[in-house]
Amino acid sequence: MTELVIKDTDHIGETAREFVRLMGDDTVFAFYGKMGAGKTTFIKALCKELGVEDEVNSPTFAIVNEYRSATTAELIYHFDFYRIKKLEEVYDLGYEDYFYSGALCFIEWPELIDDLLPSDAKKVTITENSDGSRTITV
Ligand SMILES: Nc1ncnc2c1ncn2[C@@H]1O[C@H](COP(=O)(O)OP(=O)(O)O)[C@@H](O)[C@H]1O
Ligand SMILES: [Mg+2]
Repeated sequence: MTELVIKDTDHIGETAREFVRLMGDDTVFAFYGKMGAGKTTFIKALCKELGVEDEVNSPTFAIVNEYRSATTAELIYHFDFYRIKKLEEVYDLGYEDYFYSGALCFIEWPELIDDLLPSDAKKVTITENSDGSRTITV
C-alpha cells in the first residue's frame, strides 16, 4: 500500500506524476472517496499528466467520457457512476468493452458497481484531511 499526499491544488501535478509512475501495467483504477474528496480534481490532474489536452470534467450525463492523450494517442475513459439507478444502465453502456479494453479507466463511485469491477481493478482511496490536504491510498 502506498500513501501519497496532495498538499493543495498547487501541488497536485507532482502527486499526479508520482501516481502515474506507480500505475505500472494496471489499467482500471477505482477511486473511492466522499463527495468533495477530490476524485474528479485528481483524475483531471492525472489526465493532464498523461497528455490529455481536452477539457476533463465529470461525465455527468454520459456516465463515461473519452479522452485521448496528445502525447501517446492512447484513449482514457473516465466514469462517474454517481447517478446510476440500476446496474442495467451499466450493462447497456457496454461496460465490459471499456474495462477489458486495455485502455486506462478511471472510475468515480465504483462502489455503485462493485460487482462489475474487474478483479484486478486497483482500488484508490482519497480522503480530505483537516488541513485541506488530501491523502491518496493506492
Ligand atoms: N487536492 C486538493 N486540495 C485542495 N482542494 C481540493 C483538492 N482536490 C479537490 N479540491 C477541491 O474540492 C472540491 C471538490 O473536488 P472534486 O474533485 O469535485 O471532488 P469529488 O469528485 O471527489 O466529489 C473542489 O472545489 C476542489 O477544488
Ligand atoms: Mg466527482
